Amino acid sequence: MLKIESRLAQIGSIQEPVTGAISFPVYQATAFRHPKLGQSTGFDYARTKSPTRKVLEDAIAQLESGDAGFACSSGMAALQTIFAYFSQGDHLIVSLDLYGGTYRLLEKIMSRFGVTATYVDTNDLDGLEAAYQPNTKGLVIETPTNPLMMITDLELVCTWARKKGIVSIVDNTLLTPYLQRPIELGADIVIHSATKYLGGHNDVLAGLIVTKGKELSEQMAFLHNSIGAVLGPQDSWLLMRGMKTLALRMERHEQNATAIAKFLLEHPLIGEVYYPALETHPGYAIQNKQSSGNTGIFSFKVKDARLIEPILRHIELIAFAESLGGVESLMTYPAVQTHADIPLEIRQQIGVDDRLLRFSVGIEHIDDLIADLSNALSKAQAELEGDSLS
Ligand SMILES: Cc1ncc(COP(=O)(O)O)c(C=O)c1O
Repeated sequence: MLKIESRLAQIGSIQEPVTGAISFPVYQATAFRHPKLGQSTGFDYARTKSPTRKVLEDAIAQLESGDAGFACSSGMAALQTIFAYFSQGDHLIVSLDLYGGTYRLLEKIMSRFGVTATYVDTNDLDGLEAAYQPNTKGLVIETPTNPLMMITDLELVCTWARKKGIVSIVDNTLLTPYLQRPIELGADIVIHSATKYLGGHNDVLAGLIVTKGKELSEQMAFLHNSIGAVLGPQDSWLLMRGMKTLALRMERHEQNATAIAKFLLEHPLIGEVYYPALETHPGYAIQNKQSSGNTGIFSFKVKDARLIEPILRHIELIAFAESLGGVESLMTYPAVQTHADIPLEIRQQIGVDDRLLRFSVGIEHIDDLIADLSNALSKAQAELEGDSLS
């Protein structure tokens, strides 16, 4: 099999048989002519199957070592489609630290349909055992988690889930199949907010699901078509275009993020830095074992919460914005943005407090990024000192 860099670069490039177009075309069609009664070209109606989307779906299934891929209109649409696999009375065990939107979907919507969730550190087998109930049907893992970058040993925990007969679902948004392939480590379903690294350019909203096994793949095809939160042909094409350069981008994201995390570790205004590429991170060894590199996003805490507002005001190259995984660097304040829907006491318990910033490091030149951050920190400090003198 070709190496992953080659498979990424070549997505769709040999699949257009009529003209040989290297870039697979956008089939902007919702209906497909039947040759005659009882016959189909393989495409009938675009919600069920659509040519451009199919190239993307086959590519992600192959990249994640799964059996089937499904492209959705957002990461949340992908999660909703997966959660619809469960029924009233089912219980899920879910990573304690996780994307706020996933928490909101479970607590504010799925709970109304009788699907309940318990949040635990998914790397703790005793905690998993304690959370397990006779009606537990699924395990939902983020690794690394967003935003605290907690790491779960996927092989260990997916083996546990298999023994219990429950479905393991891994959100692989932060690492992508270029760096980590959960199905190879025992997971049943992988989900992506493809809006992030897979798309890579802060310009397409998309979600992807990959399933392993015949029963799950058939069920997911049924749910994907029945719910209908599918990705359109233009966005499918745009996502594939982004994915072609994933390998190069992830390398640069990691290099830049590592250099900035080290810079912040030494900075007098900064307290904790949460990045699994650092040897001091508690998940460092597991991360090294199960993935071939690190993501480009990390979180850190300023020593004094009063620094947050001026830092966000003074960054110039780095944008104060709510996303991650694109070529442009973005800084997010999780407590009031991405994780605002998680109740305060839970956020404080896990550490998503008012001193925490999340930094999605882009692919700009490292010197420019450090200069921008350093400048913002100095100005923020000067303002704080000015305040305390006046
Ligand atoms: C880890 C993770 N999963 C899922 C989502 C939801 O994806 P989307 O914003 O594409 O709906 C996000 C969004 O930030 C995320 O960070």
